[in-house]
Amino acid sequence: MKIVVAGTGYVGLVTGACLSHLGHNVTCVDIDENKIELMKKGISPIYEPGLEELLKEGYEQGRLSFTLDYKEAYKNADVIFIGVGTPEKEDGSANLDYVFIVAEQIAESVEKDCLVVIKSTVPIGTNDEIEEFIKEKSTHKVSVEVASNPEFLAQGTAVKDTLSASRIVIGVESKKAEKTLRDIYERFNQPLVITNRRSAEMIKYASNDFLALKISFINEIANLCEIVGANVEDVSKGMSFDSRIGDKFLKAGIGYGGSCFPKDTKALHWLAEDNGYELKTVKATIEVNENQKFRLVKKARKRFKRLRGLRIAVLGLTFKPGTDDLREAPSIPNVKVLINEGAEVVAYDPIGVNNFKKLFPQGVHYVDNPESALKDADLAFIFTEWNEIKSIPLTRYKALMKQAVIFDGRNCYDVKEAAEIGVEYHSVGRQAILPDFFGGDAK
Ligand code: UGA
Repeated sequence: MKIVVAGTGYVGLVTGACLSHLGHNVTCVDIDENKIELMKKGISPIYEPGLEELLKEGYEQGRLSFTLDYKEAYKNADVIFIGVGTPEKEDGSANLDYVFIVAEQIAESVEKDCLVVIKSTVPIGTNDEIEEFIKEKSTHKVSVEVASNPEFLAQGTAVKDTLSASRIVIGVESKKAEKTLRDIYERFNQPLVITNRRSAEMIKYASNDFLALKISFINEIANLCEIVGANVEDVSKGMSFDSRIGDKFLKAGIGYGGSCFPKDTKALHWLAEDNGYELKTVKATIEVNENQKFRLVKKARKRFKRLRGLRIAVLGLTFKPGTDDLREAPSIPNVKVLINEGAEVVAYDPIGVNNFKKLFPQGVHYVDNPESALKDADLAFIFTEWNEIKSIPLTRYKALMKQAVIFDGRNCYDVKEAAEIGVEYHSVGRQAILPDFFGGDAK
């Protein structure tokens, strides 16, 4: 079977590499010449553990190839996966331009019947539209069916998530399409959920929005914990023993970021509104997350009165550890605020600095180790729980900073230990215990 994957971002490239790893012949198509050249050399254009090994393996064994020439690639394809981005439009709806560009290229190129499989996260009804669109635009007399096969991988664990997925969702309108996808995924040996296209599209949004809802819920509980004297970590733990609740996505912090939750919550909310229905839970999820991003900076403003002239260490820039992705990272609006308020910002991130520099070429001093960021700082913010950051002993903050004051958006440290060491430590959903010399409880 000749498989082609359109788009070599997190979804497309990981899909292509994993399909090839399991023995399929795969051609990856992209419009970016630099990316294609890198991949041909076995270099991954994105940071994703394990991916480069799979690229090299597939390329060396002749099962994985990369090309700019979409016409040639699509011409005789049996199956074409679409894994291009569906970013957010200004109004919150999903931008489907890239998906439609690929659909048009497919329509003008395919010379035999094929199955187009949409992996990109697309609003409910898009698969139907794409099938219709390809039918209208087809240059040759061919039959092209569209199937939905949403992706559930998380960045940083994408290869692992794909090779041992919790489930594979297949949305089809014919037995023929079902059989093709069953044949492709047989060797993955994972549970299959076979449904129609619209349900498959909805499964993806409902899954992401539910996870985002869990995070916003625990963040609200955390905020209330701070007011009423409870500890959100203990609360999450206590809840997690109930298997109906589970222990995942109950970690309070400065809100979710990344290329998926923010856009997928807004897109579903928009889609509901467009259909005359208000998704109240999703609306609340978005609102809570917007406010959560600025909880720490508000606390810092209260504590220091003004941030102007303060040297501020920013530890962690990416939206989560294990990725160089900065999309919707809480660090971005926070650093903007710090700069606007006249603070001197010194930033450290083990992987994300180069990308951050593109967003903030000026106004931030970048360092390549956390100690340099902490040296002589008046306060420190922790925005990402990288191991390189979590493992900094609290005694180093005490030794290096002008005054050891931490605002931790990821609850990396023990509150009591911080107080014992003499660090003023503010976190999320836990009572700050001020070290003795600050005099008492900082609640
Ligand atoms: C997310 C989903 O987890 C994947 O299942 C999905 O396939 C993917 O979106 C997608 O649609 O492509 P991802 O965005 O890579 O994956 O990252 P997550 O690990 O889900 O984290 C998202 C954000 O939530 C991060 O900012 C993280 O710090 C935050 N988070 C996560 C919390 O604040 N608390 C938690 O308990 C868990």
